[in-house]
Amino acid sequence: MWSLIIITLSLATIEQFGSEALVVGTNCTLAPKGNPKFPKDFSFGVSTSAYQIEGAWNADGKGLSIWDEYTHNHSERITDGSNGDDAAKSYYNFDLDLKALKDLKVNHYRFSIAWTRIFPSGETVSRNQKGIDYYNKVIDKLLANGIEPMVTMYHWDLPVEIQKFGGFANSLIIQQFLQYAEELFKLFGDRVKTWITFNEPNMICKPGYGIASSPPLVKAPGVGDYMCFTNLLKAHGATYRLYRSKYFEKQRGKVGITLDTGFVFSKLNKTDDLARAMQYKLGMLAHPIYSKSGDFPSIMLSEIKKNSQVEGRKQPRLSSLGGYWTDIIRGSADFLGINYYTSRYIERPAKAIGENPSMERDYGFEDIFDPNWQRAKSNWLYCVPEGLERLLKYIRDEFNNVEVKITENGWSDGGELNDDNSVRYYKSHVQAVLNAINDGCNVSSYSAWSLIDNFEWNKGYTEKFGLYSVNMKSPKRERTPKKSAIYYKKIIKSRSVPNEDEV
Ligand SMILES: *[C@@H]1O[C@H](CO)[C@@H](O)[C@H](O)[C@H]1NC(C)=O
Ligand SMILES: *[C@@H]1O[C@H](CO)[C@@H](O)[C@H](O)[C@H]1NC(C)=O
Ligand SMILES: *[C@@H]1O[C@H](CO)[C@@H](O)[C@H](O)[C@H]1NC(C)=O
Repeated sequence: MWSLIIITLSLATIEQFGSEALVVGTNCTLAPKGNPKFPKDFSFGVSTSAYQIEGAWNADGKGLSIWDEYTHNHSERITDGSNGDDAAKSYYNFDLDLKALKDLKVNHYRFSIAWTRIFPSGETVSRNQKGIDYYNKVIDKLLANGIEPMVTMYHWDLPVEIQKFGGFANSLIIQQFLQYAEELFKLFGDRVKTWITFNEPNMICKPGYGIASSPPLVKAPGVGDYMCFTNLLKAHGATYRLYRSKYFEKQRGKVGITLDTGFVFSKLNKTDDLARAMQYKLGMLAHPIYSKSGDFPSIMLSEIKKNSQVEGRKQPRLSSLGGYWTDIIRGSADFLGINYYTSRYIERPAKAIGENPSMERDYGFEDIFDPNWQRAKSNWLYCVPEGLERLLKYIRDEFNNVEVKITENGWSDGGELNDDNSVRYYKSHVQAVLNAINDGCNVSSYSAWSLIDNFEWNKGYTEKFGLYSVNMKSPKRERTPKKSAIYYKKIIKSRSVPNEDEV
């Protein structure tokens, strides 16, 4: 019996992390495998987020978000001292975005709603009709043009008034978010059929409540970040249950969450290390929602409990969600949204790394890149298309082939119109998605990040991810297609992976 179980486990591990991927990322290319065409109902689109493109930070009754406050009070933390006050002015220029979307002939458009634009104080009693009108206009115009709206409820711009209560460090956020989400279902759910509760919890909790590199700048590594994850998962699960019990029958939409993760490789081919690393990278948030047993991965619970005891704590820094919440959160999604950008090799460092305590210390591996990998303008972004293909197969095997939507994938540079490296990145990564589909992975859509150049958080306007360039010097913010836009348009039209020299 025992040996049988062990053999099954290690076969699954070999399947997921097997040997042929020991050299990856060569020339940012990926060989095609199988059918050259995407399935008929596969959906192509692009993504944006409110704070990064809308501007109009205090127009028409909008309230303050933590990103408004942070960029205003900490311009020294933004590479070029800039902010999203105006950005691409999409609040005034949605027609320019719509023109680009129509030009690309996308099937869907993923955008986010600024909580403070429709509820300036965060509480739903502070309803702001002009903000509601704006999103009604966006949704109606998309639908009138045959473009499906895919809506992110929360893309990092928490109302300052909610942060006063502690934001994601306080379990109050569960009710605060739930009330906001319910209003969104009531206001827009007749037309929006794809909802994403949270975008990238990793990037909400680690920089926000762990290492304090983003708002709300709470520095509590290994403690505050885990609190944030726990409350966020509960808010997500509660929102899903509310939709299913009260709105699904009429509205018939899908609700999911978007997680960001890379994949990991090991030069020494240590498959156990890889399996463990993926539990920390993706499992922490995916296991509670998408696994059969629910709750945080048991390896994390037991290791962090042990670390906490060694530190002399009475309570572990990360605790089980408990029976009640495990049941609510397990199965609380109709799809898994994935933002994939890059991957790493992992190594066991000679000495413990990271602050004590910290998530980095709990994780214990060193994430390293290969100097041969092609790098984007962003210092963390390397082209490793194999990582995306492997990740999708990992999700297929680990989470019962749940429906996956790639909600972000893209490349940064200095904003050149002839963005050949971006074209190359899209070619290899769209190929990775197609290869995975040909291998039985349940991927239903792909969204390029991003439609237009935008405010790249702490990097300001110094790193550009857009398919379209935005003239930031002109009050009208004209959009101009880059080579990558022309290439992506070809992908959508041919529903395959065209050669880059066809552009
Ligand atoms: C990597 O490990 C797997 C599983 O242990 C093994 O089957 C494979 O041959 C190894 N590959 C290399 C290159 O060592
Ligand atoms: C901090 O940000 C708030 C909100 O944008 C603003 O009202 C205030 O003037 C800022 N304070 C400083 C010192 O910049
Ligand atoms: C893919 O996901 C959909 C939606 O969850 C599900 O109905 C379908 O069975 C899945 N397909 C496979 C092959 O698992």
